[in-house]
Amino acid sequence: MQKKVLLAGGTGMIGRQTQTILKSKGYLPAILTRGDSLPEKNIYHWDPVKKTIDSKALDQCFGVINLAGTNIGQWPWTKARKQEIASSRIESTTFLMEQIRTAPHPPEVYINASATGFYPDEDQDWLLEDHAPDNDFLGTTCHRWESAVHQNAPGNCRVCIVRIGLVMSTRGGIYPKFRLGTYFKMGVKLGSGNMYYSWIHLEDLARMFVFLLENKTCQGVYNGVSPHPLTMKSWMEVLAEFHKTWLTLPLPAWLLKLLLGDFAQLLLKGGQVSAQKIQAAGFTFNWPEWKQALDDLYKRST
Ligand SMILES: NC(=O)c1ccc[n+]([C@@H]2O[C@H](COP(=O)([O-])OP(=O)(O)OC[C@H]3O[C@@H](n4cnc5c(N)ncnc54)[C@H](OP(=O)(O)O)[C@@H]3O)[C@@H](O)[C@H]2O)c1
Repeated sequence: MQKKVLLAGGTGMIGRQTQTILKSKGYLPAILTRGDSLPEKNIYHWDPVKKTIDSKALDQCFGVINLAGTNIGQWPWTKARKQEIASSRIESTTFLMEQIRTAPHPPEVYINASATGFYPDEDQDWLLEDHAPDNDFLGTTCHRWESAVHQNAPGNCRVCIVRIGLVMSTRGGIYPKFRLGTYFKMGVKLGSGNMYYSWIHLEDLARMFVFLLENKTCQGVYNGVSPHPLTMKSWMEVLAEFHKTWLTLPLPAWLLKLLLGDFAQLLLKGGQVSAQKIQAAGFTFNWPEWKQALDDLYKRST
């Protein structure tokens, strides 16, 4: 019998790719969505605000992967928007874990998304999973999100958290936005350009989720980043060389903060996040280097 894996927020960019990898490995992906239930298609409704969930969603689940949360890439970050970013992750995670804890047959494994925004801005040292969280909005939100997992984790279920870096895909995230500029032969330098971009190819990330699902020795927090982060400036240089751009527009940090407010955190925050723990667990990257990943993204978009 196919093993059922329930993906909360599985309709999003990472969820759709994870569904593809799961199917290719013989699993039965099921979706937990705020949309309508379609049990014949393995789609189940939940409403994390009203705290309701289709009673069949968790039936005979081998694993649960929680990716739910409102998109943080939408500007502006008003007070209400920040509240929504936090609660759509923390409260939905708490609710989902409560359902798992009280389910007649809890899943064997539970995996929750988090983000590398957890870490403070540090250019010098590698950021490992045991580092303390930043005290800015992203840091505290990720920390509270992860605490919701730790505090509600059922004893009989293996739990992993993936701190996801900048996901590189043709379907969303930052790559298509920067790619747009290259059609006009233009790149940008954000702030000093010296902050590290810890990135990961979408397919490697989806493979990592399935790797964690399958590897019984894996437990706890893992950084979901490639082993070769690079500074924003170098990241852009590779892109510029690849697409033969001839103009780099500098956008200083003060201007971004003035124009975008707190949202600028998302563009200016960096950190050299380490992939050492997941590699030591045996995971191998198909696209460890940005140049290779870019080449693949380009092929996929043409
Ligand atoms: N993409 C990145 O670069 C990146 C980086 C770091 C961390 N992450 C984290 O990884 C997770 C998945 O990312 P993604 O890029 O796949 O995101 P996405 O495309 O925006 O998908 C997220 C899914 O969450 C659900 N959702 C949206 N608003 C919600 C709300 N208010 N309450 C509950 N669920 C809601 C939606 O599913 P339904 O409408 O079907 O319910 C949506 O399809 C997110 O939590 C994100 O913070 C992503």
